[in-house]
Amino acid sequence: MGEKTEKLLSILKLQPVVPVLIVEDAASAVPLARALVAGGLKAIEITMRTPAALDAVRAVAAEVEGAAVGAGTILNAAHFEAAVAAGSTFVVSPGTTQELLDAARHSDVPLLPGAATASEVMALREEGYKVLKFFPAEQAGGAAYLKSLSSPLAGTFFCPTGGISLKNARDYLSLPNVVCVGGSWVAPKEMVAAGDWAGITRLAAEAAALKS
Ligand code: 3PG
Repeated sequence: MGEKTEKLLSILKLQPVVPVLIVEDAASAVPLARALVAGGLKAIEITMRTPAALDAVRAVAAEVEGAAVGAGTILNAAHFEAAVAAGSTFVVSPGTTQELLDAARHSDVPLLPGAATASEVMALREEGYKVLKFFPAEQAGGAAYLKSLSSPLAGTFFCPTGGISLKNARDYLSLPNVVCVGGSWVAPKEMVAAGDWAGITRLAAEAAALKS
């Protein structure tokens, strides 16, 4: 297994659930990440969907002990490079383009590229990727769909994301081809806006306790 795949797996295996965050206010990033780490969720994905996202990555990378901060919603090479420069330890994309694969090839930071069909998985396998994001998980066919890929595409592992919650996370975590799941449910917008860090730590602890 390649060094970057090992690096990625060592991050994704820190916990069963990777929180997917949309950070509106960079000032909330550090207390939010601390609340998640306190609940046992150390690998944290901050999506590049807001103007505050890069500052949020920088702040968490510099200030939150024990966190492994990654950047999500990376759509192109410029996003990839900015996310790495800000201190991301992993990078996540909803799908894959050649431009993104080229940027990732020249970086030491591992990419978790998105795929939702057998052909997309096969194309990424040809590029050397064995660990992929299955997105959008529920909408693309859910756990039953992913299970049906496990035999023909054996040796490929997924972090499904999209529509996953405490209710259905186990359906995915029990599959042989799932490493972890991703989800935003551990950091609800209202709780972040209210600064309810203790409540978020409780949600994180509940998620961290999920087993396959
Ligand atoms: C996303 O891209 O927003 C993530 O996949 C999270 O999805 P969720 O909000 O359904 O958990």
